Amino acid sequence: MNTIVLGDGPMGRALHAALAAAADVGRATLLGRPDDPAGHSPRELRSADVVLDFSRAAAVMANVRRGLEAGCRAFVIGTTGWDADRPRAAALLEEHRGAAVAAANFSPGLAILADLVEEASRRFGAFEAFDPFIVEWHRAAKADRPSGTAKELSRRLLAAHPVKRRLADPSAGLPPAADELELAAIRAGASPGMHLVGFDAPGETVELRITARDRSAYAAGALEAARWLLREPRSPGIHPFSEVVGERSAPPVATLAINA
Ligand SMILES: NC(=O)c1ccc[n+]([C@@H]2O[C@H](COP(=O)([O-])OP(=O)(O)OC[C@H]3O[C@@H](n4cnc5c(N)ncnc54)[C@H](OP(=O)(O)O)[C@@H]3O)[C@@H](O)[C@H]2O)c1
Repeated sequence: MNTIVLGDGPMGRALHAALAAAADVGRATLLGRPDDPAGHSPRELRSADVVLDFSRAAAVMANVRRGLEAGCRAFVIGTTGWDADRPRAAALLEEHRGAAVAAANFSPGLAILADLVEEASRRFGAFEAFDPFIVEWHRAAKADRPSGTAKELSRRLLAAHPVKRRLADPSAGLPPAADELELAAIRAGASPGMHLVGFDAPGETVELRITARDRSAYAAGALEAARWLLREPRSPGIHPFSEVVGERSAPPVATLAINA
C-alpha cells in the first residue's frame, strides 16, 4: 500500500514515521501546505492508494477533491474542525465511489472509552446525585477548542443521559443549568491530549480518563483505518472509526449472554 500524508505538523510527521516503519506500506510520502492555494496537484497525489489527511480544517474539502481527481478512492481523515464541510465531502465521495474513515480521534483506546462513556452516562444518569462533566487538555498551540474528541464524547454522553441536553456556554459566566453539561478546555504546555469524563456525587467522584503519552496511538489507529479501507470494498461515503474498531471488539456482554 502506498500512502500520502497531507499535513506536516506534529501529527502528520508522527503518522508519516509510523507508516514508513510499517512492513505493509510501500511508499510513505509527507506533504505540507501546497504552493497553489487551490490545493495539491492531482499529479502529486497520483501514487496514493490511501490519502491520510491531518492538515487544517479549511483544507480538507480541497484535499478530498484533489485526491479523487488523482484517482485515489480511500481516505483517512483525522483533521478536526471541518464538520460544516462533512455533508459536501460525503456527497463527493459517494459520487466518485470513494470511501473515507473520518474521526476526530484515531486512538483505539478512545474508541472503546467512548462506548464506556455512553454506558456510564446511562448508568450514572439514573442517580440524580452524580453530575457529569468533561475536561480536556491539549498543547497551547492546538488550533481548535474544545477538541473534536471532547465534542464527540459530549455528544455520546448527552445522547445517553436522561437529564443533560446541551453543553453549557462558558462565555455566559454563569453556573450550568440542570440540563447543561459542563465542558472545560485547557490549552497549556505540550500535552498531545488528555480527556476526562467525570461523574461527581457529594461523597465520591468517578473518573474515566484517557491520556495520550505521544501521538503513536493516533498513528496506529489511522494505519489500521487505512488497512481496513483496502482489505475489502467499502461502501462509498464516510465511515466512523468505530466501524474499524468494531470488527475487533468483543460483542457487548448482553449479546454474549443471548448467544450462549
Ligand atoms: N484524529 C486524530 O486522531 C488526531 C490526532 C491528533 C491531531 N489531530 C488533528 O490533526 C490535525 C493536524 O494536527 P497537528 O497537531 O499536526 O496540527 P498543526 O500543527 O496545525 O499542523 C497542520 C499542518 O498542516 C499543514 N497544512 C495546511 N494545509 C495543508 C494542505 N492542504 N495539505 C497539507 N498540509 C497542509 C499546515 O501548514 P500551515 O501551517 O502552513 O497551515 C501545518 O503544517 C489537526 O486538525 C488536529 O486536531 C487528529
